[in-house]
Amino acid sequence: MRKLTTKELRNLFIEFFKTKDHAVISSASLIPENDPSVLFTTAGMHPLVPYLLGEKHPAGKRLVNVQKCVRTGDIDDVGDTSHLTFFEMLGNWSLGDYFKKEAIEYSYEFLTSPDWLGIDKDKLYFTVFAGDEDAPKDVESYEHWLRMGVDPSHIFFLPKKNNWWFAGPTGPCGPDTEIFYDTGIEPCCTDCSPACSCGKYLEIWNNVFMEYNKTSNGFEPLSQKNVDTGMGLERTVATLQGVECAYDTDAFSGILKEIETLSGKGYRDNPDTTKAFRIIADHIRCATFILGDPRGVTPSNVDQGYVLRRLIRRALRYAMQLEIPEDSLYIIAEAVINQNADFYTELETNRERIITEIQTEEKRFQRTLKQGMREFEKMKEHFIQEGKIDGKSAFRLYDTFGFPIEFTQEMASEIGLTVDIEGFNEAFAEHQKKSQIGADQKFKGGLADSSEQTTRLHTATHLLQAALRKVLDESVSQRGSNITPERLRFDFSFDRKVTREELDEIERLVNEAIQADVEVICEEKTVEEALNEGAIGLFGERYGERVKVYTVPGFSKEICGGPHVKRTGELGTFKIVKEEASSAGVRRIKAVLK
Ligand code: ALA
Repeated sequence: MRKLTTKELRNLFIEFFKTKDHAVISSASLIPENDPSVLFTTAGMHPLVPYLLGEKHPAGKRLVNVQKCVRTGDIDDVGDTSHLTFFEMLGNWSLGDYFKKEAIEYSYEFLTSPDWLGIDKDKLYFTVFAGDEDAPKDVESYEHWLRMGVDPSHIFFLPKKNNWWFAGPTGPCGPDTEIFYDTGIEPCCTDCSPACSCGKYLEIWNNVFMEYNKTSNGFEPLSQKNVDTGMGLERTVATLQGVECAYDTDAFSGILKEIETLSGKGYRDNPDTTKAFRIIADHIRCATFILGDPRGVTPSNVDQGYVLRRLIRRALRYAMQLEIPEDSLYIIAEAVINQNADFYTELETNRERIITEIQTEEKRFQRTLKQGMREFEKMKEHFIQEGKIDGKSAFRLYDTFGFPIEFTQEMASEIGLTVDIEGFNEAFAEHQKKSQIGADQKFKGGLADSSEQTTRLHTATHLLQAALRKVLDESVSQRGSNITPERLRFDFSFDRKVTREELDEIERLVNEAIQADVEVICEEKTVEEALNEGAIGLFGERYGERVKVYTVPGFSKEICGGPHVKRTGELGTFKIVKEEASSAGVRRIKAVLK
């Protein structure tokens, strides 16, 4: 087995699939545009949904990529060996091109050939779909594995729960075959299999055979059969380096070293420090990538901004536990930038924003903590009379003042009291139930909402950006965009309030372009060609890469994945409903189409 660094594995994966005629595409933004149903890109397939559904991809039918992903559902579990909120997914893609045979051959060759990873064949285990009323048993994949020389005792048939990939409640999906590495630890029981989470079998690669579309009526065949694969970069590097987990690989070494310097403590001092180190490293790494994303998000109380705030504040809490001096979290972010900027150049480009936002959020949180402490002091007499801190009060401190429960517990113990944790948990669960209802409604839409109305708003966003550049300044550029079926929201760089007259003029220009009812032209070009023609809207795509360019003749030209309307006349009347500050140097416009 070859001992590779993170960078080497990224490169090798790409090189391998290049030899199999795959075109390299860049990581899409972490912030899905035009898709209010999910906050972050959670898998490599997410930005490719339109192409899995049959749209033609400008780079072809065989693609390979390294996709930045964020999953924060298990944020409270971070600190153990397996959870990461930010990770990179290596993927090869067939968009209606090859299917099970080649996908399995490629996976096996890449993993086991001495020219590539050279993993010992006996260490690999495989799972395939067992079949049910929706789809047949995947005998074909089983037979391909056997053909590769895999021993039947290394292949397990598992049900939908284990061997089916769903992108969301609806959308492209299908059975998968997963590849596991035997870590060599003792089996947990006589039935131990890759279905166990005991840690013996580590999933390193998933090959999804996307041939169904899940709709509210059930599973329908897709117009084309696709292959979607995902190999967790950090986890596979850990396996190749023979270490316990991702934190022990080169991907984290510089970051952990910086935390050691700042705290004067060792990563492996004791289980508590190890956990705190991992949480700080993971959260600041994730926050740095979110802040450094070309679609840039800043801390706030809603959506992606809220997740970002939570990551920074949680990291800060553990930084305080390690007695890291105040105002130094940004130094850890710098370590993340330094470790990753050669591949993710956007981190270098946005270095200043990342540092400033982390510094500002740290200061804000320090203020919040002071406010929480004052609140605690006010309630102290009452707590002493009661002889404890009731759950509701502890929750109020947490919910209204952002005061972490651990801080309440600490202050309580200083005056000889305890906190009713059960009561706190009950109040917390009650609150979560309420917000879950909101979240369920939010996710109801499934993946990529390309309803007519969001498509119209998407085209309107291009017109708005072009008008802003004409009326305000050529240097105005996109800082964020979010579209729901009701409205568009567009953040852009500009350092003062936009006047009423300017807003009127912007509105007038957009409506003029709509009334002209011109064709919205979609062309495929390389990034260079697009830029030479004056296209804007680069989101991390690299030179040489083929992209789609949408043009409204005489008005706007943007590199963009779409979808867009066919003619501007389909948009109706454009109206700006709000203009406000979003963050330092960034303004926000909300607009509707009537
Ligand atoms: N979409 C599949 C996954 O994320 C490959 O595991």
